[in-house]
Amino acid sequence: MIVVLDFGGQYAQLIARRVREARVFSELLPYDTPLEEIRRRDPEGIILSGGPNSVYERGAPRVDAALFDLGVPVLGICYGMQLMALTLGGEVGAVQIREYGRSKLEVRGHGELFSGTPDEQTVWTSHGDAVLAAPPGFRVTARTPSVPILAFEEPSRGLYGVQFHPEVRHTEYGMEILKNFLFEACGCAPDWTPVNIVTEAVERVREQVGASRAICALSGGVDSATAAMLVHRAIGDKLTCVFVDHGLLRQNEAEQVVEAFRREAGLPLVHVDARERFLDRLAGVTDPEAKRKIVGEEFIRVFEEEAGKIRDARFLVQGTLYSDVIESGTRDAARIKSHHNVGGLPEVMDLELVEPLRNLFKDEVRVVAAELGMPERLVWRQPFPGPGLAIRIIGEVTAERLEILRKADAVLQDEIRSAGYYRRLWQSFAVLPAVHSVGVMGDARTYAYPIVIRAVTSDDAMTADWARLPYDLLERISNRIINEVPGVNRVALDITSKPPGTIEWE
Ligand code: XMP
Repeated sequence: MIVVLDFGGQYAQLIARRVREARVFSELLPYDTPLEEIRRRDPEGIILSGGPNSVYERGAPRVDAALFDLGVPVLGICYGMQLMALTLGGEVGAVQIREYGRSKLEVRGHGELFSGTPDEQTVWTSHGDAVLAAPPGFRVTARTPSVPILAFEEPSRGLYGVQFHPEVRHTEYGMEILKNFLFEACGCAPDWTPVNIVTEAVERVREQVGASRAICALSGGVDSATAAMLVHRAIGDKLTCVFVDHGLLRQNEAEQVVEAFRREAGLPLVHVDARERFLDRLAGVTDPEAKRKIVGEEFIRVFEEEAGKIRDARFLVQGTLYSDVIESGTRDAARIKSHHNVGGLPEVMDLELVEPLRNLFKDEVRVVAAELGMPERLVWRQPFPGPGLAIRIIGEVTAERLEILRKADAVLQDEIRSAGYYRRLWQSFAVLPAVHSVGVMGDARTYAYPIVIRAVTSDDAMTADWARLPYDLLERISNRIINEVPGVNRVALDITSKPPGTIEWE
């Protein structure tokens, strides 16, 4: 495995992902992780990420010099390279002409890192500082017209530095350069494959859970579904899944979950029909936060009741992802909405957590899901919020309004899928506002609900852009919704990005 030390650069997570794309397991750790802890992981290589600071700034992150004596190859990227230079006796300073964006790099003297790549190549740079003098024993292996030391190395000690971003796609031979580090310098084997990921995860779960019983709350989303399938593979019928149908799901969704798990995978599944219970509690409630709170609390209550019937359960399976692990350790974002998920459950229930996806990025979860033979519809399902349609119905949630939204949403999904847009969009859905507008159908006046189309592209839901859907697709969606969904006489399109809008309406 490879340890990537995060010095605060915007691409640190990307480095970890690219290493995994090369089929080598990698972990992203804060730059000040104690050396002992790094050593305990027994990495085959270490990568120091870029960072926003200048090495000479007061309080700028540093690196323990002993890191370079671990006998483990180290690749410093940008700030990481400068730290390496500074720590080992080189010199760092401001460059005359700052370089941002594409630069033309000239390879000099056949560096190991550049092996198999051309003498001239485009790289992505962003720096105000650069290495002015390489540390003793280091060879300069690349330059640009304005920066004489753009890469250096000391292969006998396994030390390499680049003043550009190999992890960014704009760097033409970035992946080759990373692979040279991984496979030539570190001697890694490309064995982080879907089959191995599954085998390893299954073994780990077996070790943790042993012969005990575990339970899992299924939502229908790809994360909880994949976690459940993995644990099922590890402990078989000792896992019971609880699927709480809160009645806020989309058309046919509940049936699809039951079909995929109980019938196809043969997994013990408790299907709780709690639709009325949730509707009763939501009656007359219009405030978004109140709705979120009610759905969250009621979900925990129902789940607890059902779980209580499963005797001697000791473990709770959750679909926590690697990005959640990284974020909970680093980011302290302001709370915009109280998110509902099943976190908080173990405290009230006194269960130990099993999190088989803790090491995986979202795209890796999809690969694992496919490897486990899960149906394509589940593997590629767009994210769906825990409170479901309750936060896409503005105002009161009633059976009648749920029906309208469900029908409109089904039409929208159908057209988006047929047009080949489903996977390209982060999310696409219908929203039901709490207003009526006047229309004319046949010769009669109508006074009915509008439906709002929301479709966004995004990488991580932190920011999002409204999707530029083709006009003819929008036209088909609009015509079909108005013709096929009673109670709707108008269709509008939401063209707000995030920020300033959020993805969901409530
Ligand atoms: P917003 O609306 O805050 O949503 O831009 C960001 C992403 O989170 C999803 N979302 C939720 N997911 N429980 C969830 O599991 C929730 O309570 C919840 N609220 C929003 C939303 O669909 C989008 O992908």
